[in-house]
Amino acid sequence: MSKTVVAVLFGGCSTEYEVSLQSAYAVLTHLDARRYSVLTVGITRQGEWLYYNGALEKIQDGTWCEDPLFCNSCALSPDKGKRELIVFGDHQMCFPFDVLFPVLHGKNGEDGTVQGLAELAGIPLVGCGTLASSLCMDKARAHTLARAVGIEVPMGMVFEREDAFSKIEQEAEKIGWPLFVKPVRAGSSFGITRVEEKKQLKQAVQNAFEHDDQILLEQAVDGFEVGCAVLGNHTLTVGLVDEIELSAGFFDYEEKYTLKSSKIHCPARISAQDAIRVQETAKILYRTMGCRGFARVDLFFTPDRRIVFNEINTIPGFTSHSRYPNMMRGIGLNFDELLEKLVDLGLEE
Ligand SMILES: Nc1ncnc2c1ncn2[C@@H]1O[C@H](COP(=O)(O)OP(=O)(O)O)[C@@H](O)[C@H]1O
Ligand SMILES: [Mg+2]
Repeated sequence: MSKTVVAVLFGGCSTEYEVSLQSAYAVLTHLDARRYSVLTVGITRQGEWLYYNGALEKIQDGTWCEDPLFCNSCALSPDKGKRELIVFGDHQMCFPFDVLFPVLHGKNGEDGTVQGLAELAGIPLVGCGTLASSLCMDKARAHTLARAVGIEVPMGMVFEREDAFSKIEQEAEKIGWPLFVKPVRAGSSFGITRVEEKKQLKQAVQNAFEHDDQILLEQAVDGFEVGCAVLGNHTLTVGLVDEIELSAGFFDYEEKYTLKSSKIHCPARISAQDAIRVQETAKILYRTMGCRGFARVDLFFTPDRRIVFNEINTIPGFTSHSRYPNMMRGIGLNFDELLEKLVDLGLEE
């Protein structure tokens, strides 16, 4: 049997560059070498595409792009159906491949841009396509769609850079404190503040505008956040529902990657019946946004057992101990099997 050639993209011109390196290291070290051969393409923080053929550990420790010996400028051929990686240098080479696996988080990777390039070139893709990726990246528009299919979303409002601060303040008063200020499109909690009182609002607004031209003011939802891993193109598989237990503040960047004062419970400490409600809601949202392949749907579960949509991560954190793989492990799918499923789904029409 000939091997499937998987082109793995890692890094990316995004604030979540480092997170991607960890996810990609896990993917690259777990793809079964008997079934797959891999082309490794790193995208630097500046957005330069490099074919990388050095040690995988250097991806994990972030030094992969320091040695030019292992890095060559490269590009995906945009020609429809060619499925080729062009590697530049003294001797230009073309490497054919079967499927593209972007292991990128946030802007310029999880937001539909790379997916658009793949679709343009007719390259099979692991994960969501252009529309679902960009929709899920845009928290405000994702909320509008969720509301349209009858799923509750936090009360909130979008503001542009041009809007007067007094208008933002007025809306904040209407929503009440505490509230959340966030960039419409970002991830890993970058640019997000939980605003406890009015005097913190200005700084929070500035902070969010550093990450996007549009920001979202959102009511703080009571209760806790739950996640649901969804897998599939047509027939959907859902993982166990997990729960984030916070002891203070919110799930910010530091907490996400150190879990200092927070804890992830998988399964979530909710009834079996409520877990099913969460999974069903996650599936509706997944289909509503047009997701395929995989995504992690994040929701709030309130003290009165309401399910409120937060966001969908179309390329969720993907180290072997990340939430998505854990939720899938909970239904008996180990990390290697999960990767196989993802590649197969990517290759499916
Ligand atoms: N409306 C809200 N109510 C309560 N907590 C929130 C709300 N919005 C965000 N949070 C908290 O902030 C974290 C990050 O926000 P989120 O919208 O998920 O952005 P990101 O895409 O960066 O993960 C969430 O995991 C949650 O802890
Ligand atoms: Mg989140």
